[in-house]
Amino acid sequence: MEKNIVWQTSKVSYDDRCAVLKQRGLVVWFTGLSGAGKSTIAIEVEKYLNHHQKAVYLLDGDNIRHGINSDLGFTDVDRNENIRRVTEIASLFKDAGIIALVSFITPFEAMRVFAQEKIGQENLVLVYVKADLSACIARDPKGLYKKNIRDFTGISSEYQPPKNPDLTLDTELYSISECAFMVTEYIKSKFGPTV
Ligand code: ADX
Repeated sequence: MEKNIVWQTSKVSYDDRCAVLKQRGLVVWFTGLSGAGKSTIAIEVEKYLNHHQKAVYLLDGDNIRHGINSDLGFTDVDRNENIRRVTEIASLFKDAGIIALVSFITPFEAMRVFAQEKIGQENLVLVYVKADLSACIARDPKGLYKKNIRDFTGISSEYQPPKNPDLTLDTELYSISECAFMVTEYIKSKFGPTV
C-alpha cells in the first residue's frame, strides 16, 4: 500500500446506486482458449441484457489491450497484471451497480481465484467457454494459430481449465445463441429478476 494515501468515503452507498439503476451489480467472467467463443457469446449476452433494460458493459481482452492495458504483452507476468487490472475495473463496474461481462482468456487458476476473492464469489459468475484446442485451431477466427506466435495460449503458454466453473459452455456441442441463453437463464435463476 502506498504511503500518504487516505481512503475517501462516499455518501452514496452501493444500495443507493443500485436503487437508481433498479438492478444489482454483477460480474460474468468468461474464460477459455482463443477461438473458444468467449467474446462472441459475451456480445450476445450483452445485447440481450441491454435489450432487457439492464445496465451492462462488455470488457473484452482484445479491446482493453488496445487502451488501458496496451503496455502489456503475453508473458505470465504481463497476463497476471492484465487480469489484476481488469479485476479492479470489473469490481468498480459491479460497485457502480452495472453488470460487467469480462471476456479474457484468463489462463491460470490463480488469476480466477484472485478475481473471485476480490469481487466476491456471490457477485461473480465464472463461465468456462470450452472447446478443444484442435477445434480452436480449426476455427482460428483471427488467423493467429497459424502465425506461430510466441507464448501463445494452448500452444506455447499454458491454459489451465477452471476447477470449479459456475457454468460450462461446450461450444462444440451448442450454438452461440444456445450458449448465450444458458448464461442469461443461469443469471436469472441465481440472482432473480433484479438482475
Ligand atoms: S490473457 O491471457 O491475458 O487473459 P487476453 O484475453 O487479454 O489474454 O488477450 C487474448 C487475445 O489477445 C486473444 O484473443 C488474441 O486475439 C490476442 N493474442 C495475441 N497474442 C496472444 C498470445 N500470445 N496468446 C493468446 N492470445 C494472444
